[in-house]
Amino acid sequence: MSATRARVIAIDGPAAAGKGTLARRLAGHLGFAYLDTGLLYRAVAARLIEAGAGIEPAAAEAAAKALAPSDLDRSDLRGDDVAEVASKVAAMPEVRAALLSFQREFAAKPPGNRPGAVLDGRDIATVVCPGADCKLFVTASVEVRALRRLKELRQRGVDAIHTRVLREMQERDARDSQRSVAPLVPARDAVVIDTSTLDAEHAFAAALEIVEARMPDAHA
Ligand code: DC
Repeated sequence: MSATRARVIAIDGPAAAGKGTLARRLAGHLGFAYLDTGLLYRAVAARLIEAGAGIEPAAAEAAAKALAPSDLDRSDLRGDDVAEVASKVAAMPEVRAALLSFQREFAAKPPGNRPGAVLDGRDIATVVCPGADCKLFVTASVEVRALRRLKELRQRGVDAIHTRVLREMQERDARDSQRSVAPLVPARDAVVIDTSTLDAEHAFAAALEIVEARMPDAHA
């Protein structure tokens, strides 16, 4: 069993800290499968918005239970309206419980018979995969993250204002880290990478060094 057990890298952190880019790159480098768990909460939000249902627990739980892998391929999950609702449904214990088995299954049996999985989110190291082989907490100052988000929005042609992006990010941070269920906190045994002054290249180098120290046999 232990010889074939899938390896798991858990990456948590706030929005726009660079964890998605890092997680995707680590997965590609190691030949691991990658799951952006934020997409699960976004897909639940998108289903609710689409149904015109209120943002209330019973409807959100039903949407979470009805989620299919193809929901994660929807092209409308990246918008800020979806993110706003996602952060509300993510505070509901019944939604989190409904999404747990999908995430654990992905980590235990990575699709494509990959030897391991990288999952990124807010509670991967603390709740979803507490036994992960390597835990990273990727963060950056809220000002830096708001600037990154602003740049990304403008590149997508969205006419965004800095003060508003910053305020929304602070509100979302507060909701994610102050909720009673699975709040955003670094696991005790997570290594923190602060990307405030690191570009993607340096963040990847720092992460790879940590991964290789924790999982010397990660490369097949
Ligand atoms: O990372 P993101 O912006 O795509 O996440 C969308 C929302 O889902 C965000 O409010 C945080 C929440 N989330 C969560 O609570 N737990 C996760 N594992 C991933 C995301």
